[in-house]
Amino acid sequence: MSAFDTLPLLRPNIRSLKPYRSARDDFKTGILLDANENPFAPEQHPEARLNRYPDPHFEALRARLSELKDVKPSQIFLGNGSDEAIDILIRMFCQSGEDTMVITPPTYGMYKVSADIQGIQTVEAPLNPDFSLDPEGVIEAVKTSGAKLVFLCSPNNPTANRLDAAHIRQVLEAVPALVIVDEAYIDFSAGESALRWLGEFPNLVVMQTLSKAWGLAGIRLGMAFASETIISYMMRVKPPYNVNTLTQQTALAALASPERTSGLIAQILAERERLAEALLKFPAVYKVEPSDANFLLVRVKDAPGWYKALAAEEVIVRYRGDQLHCTDGLRVTIGTPEENDRLLAAFEKLSAIVSPTT
Ligand SMILES: Cc1ncc(COP(=O)(O)O)c(C=O)c1O
Repeated sequence: MSAFDTLPLLRPNIRSLKPYRSARDDFKTGILLDANENPFAPEQHPEARLNRYPDPHFEALRARLSELKDVKPSQIFLGNGSDEAIDILIRMFCQSGEDTMVITPPTYGMYKVSADIQGIQTVEAPLNPDFSLDPEGVIEAVKTSGAKLVFLCSPNNPTANRLDAAHIRQVLEAVPALVIVDEAYIDFSAGESALRWLGEFPNLVVMQTLSKAWGLAGIRLGMAFASETIISYMMRVKPPYNVNTLTQQTALAALASPERTSGLIAQILAERERLAEALLKFPAVYKVEPSDANFLLVRVKDAPGWYKALAAEEVIVRYRGDQLHCTDGLRVTIGTPEENDRLLAAFEKLSAIVSPTT
């Protein structure tokens, strides 16, 4: 589906939307008496000019990301976390009570929550038991439901694997729908980003975030990359000042020195390997799923019991055994070496008590 026009997929009211405009869309410097701001800068972060609204077009960040990701600034949307991008895409394309979208469980929970909030039905095309994508299943689900959107997550949360690139392309080629590839964990993966296909598929949206490898979950900065057309509509739909000044400035500073992030990634990957190996030595742990992310899906006998017992040792992991194909699953984020040692010490202590009987 290469010569594919995504505009007809948009809700009609979004296509005809007259977006909010401010004088700041046209002028950014001068004596600024246009936005009813307070002229006096606050004492907090005086250099940040927090009395002024942030740049609604985040031009400096888009310029830097354009260099880093090799896409045009006009192909970049930034949001208050990727969660905002998910919500905006659903609201742009799906009419409440009418439209559907496809998800591939087990996967990131916010796709369905955002759809539920908006009154959009989610159709499931589950991953295979080995967590691989079932492209025919996804294509069939789109065709039978008329879904407007498909959410694929690669590497996938909570299973930690990346999806086969050929499978993703198969879906992109076949469906008359927008395909959103959520790459929140891509920087931990040996696989390549789907960003390289942006020029090829007008129906592709790639999402990434500064919350994981960049270590900036607290500033809330999510990215969506797509055709200029899709991005221009995302920019019209978003609240005008959705990325605050402190976030824009902190992100710019971090993106100026990617070496630090590369170092952190290398350390997390080394710890991921160490932790996977060490966990497998405990009798209750019978499998650690291969990981392309900064977490491990660990299969352990009596996972709910371990979840509670670890919490009592003040080590908090996520129980995922209730998710499709994730029986006995605990999702364990890779921490600092010291935190990982605490996890292993807790396993050691609890194994002495519980593992012979579980
Ligand atoms: C697959 C996936 N996408 C998106 C997010 C949320 O990203 P953000 O912090 O940018 O909203 C998460 C967070 O855990 C995630 O696992």
